[in-house]
Amino acid sequence: MEIRSVGVIGAGQMGNGIAHVFAQSGYDVLLTDISEEALEKAMALIARNLERQVSRGKTTEAEMALALGRIRTTGVLADLGACDLVIEAATEREAVKVKLFEELRPHLRPETILTSNTSSISITRLAAGTERPERFMGFHFMNPVPVMQLVELIRGIQTSEETYQTLLKVVATLGKTAASAEDFPAFIVNRILIPMINEAVYALYEGVGNVRSIDQSMKLGANHPMGPLELADFIGLDTCLSIMNVLHEGLADTKYRPCPLLVKYVEAGWLGRKVKRGFYDYR
Ligand code: CAA
Repeated sequence: MEIRSVGVIGAGQMGNGIAHVFAQSGYDVLLTDISEEALEKAMALIARNLERQVSRGKTTEAEMALALGRIRTTGVLADLGACDLVIEAATEREAVKVKLFEELRPHLRPETILTSNTSSISITRLAAGTERPERFMGFHFMNPVPVMQLVELIRGIQTSEETYQTLLKVVATLGKTAASAEDFPAFIVNRILIPMINEAVYALYEGVGNVRSIDQSMKLGANHPMGPLELADFIGLDTCLSIMNVLHEGLADTKYRPCPLLVKYVEAGWLGRKVKRGFYDYR
């Protein structure tokens, strides 16, 4: 099946990046969100990120204008029914995703491939809640989407080979690299990355180092582009905690216990960069 049009659900951090790269690669993109304000913000951010790419010589003004012209927005979820591929990038809560798939169900064409950008939830279980489990897959982009090379492809037990092969080709057209992961809690990247971040929070909690020394150690000592606490702020502490909870519950191993300090920060609403306060103060 040839994919030409892509519907993206959710105009947040991941959704706007996904819309950006698909439009840049020649796809017609329809971006939806329940909030009109989120859609406006997303379009402004996509334009800013494209301008940044123009200023660094990664793309041209003309290509930028073409990419922006390929993105349309809508507040009506049903409008995505006509797309060849739908990517759900809404809040990382299973109940929200299940409800969105239910709402979309009567409007989707039979051949449309439905995917989720979930960073940790079982693809098999999400697929089972749709009427097209063989045309359902995990399609996990990394943040910031325009920069990060990897896309994880996760097959549920029901996903057909044809669906998988179609998405492999789509990833290649984006100029990105696909890694196939089995449907285990948090897949590959987050199975490794988020416990490392959780361990950094434990190091802070136990006083092994302070925020700056922990981040500096991993930047200069392990050549990570960002320290783990800075990265936690970037990803969102609520997302980090929810992934730790999925690992803890799904793998039933105490080694995945979320650090109490991470829980406390989330309870305080200190969720990282998006609210201007996390392990660092961005105000
Ligand atoms: N859109 C377009 N381009 C962007 C961008 C964006 N949103 N953000 C950064 N860039 C570009 C910049 O223009 C710059 O381009 P050039 O190389 O052409 O100059 C390049 O990316 C580097 O950016 P900066 O110079 O501004 O800053 P930096 O060198 O500090 O890099 C970073 C920023 C790319 C974010 C880098 O710090 C990094 O790689 N951090 C780690 C990110 C990471 O680990 N992401 C994975 C998170 S986990 C995840 O996403 C999975 C999950 O489910 C939670």
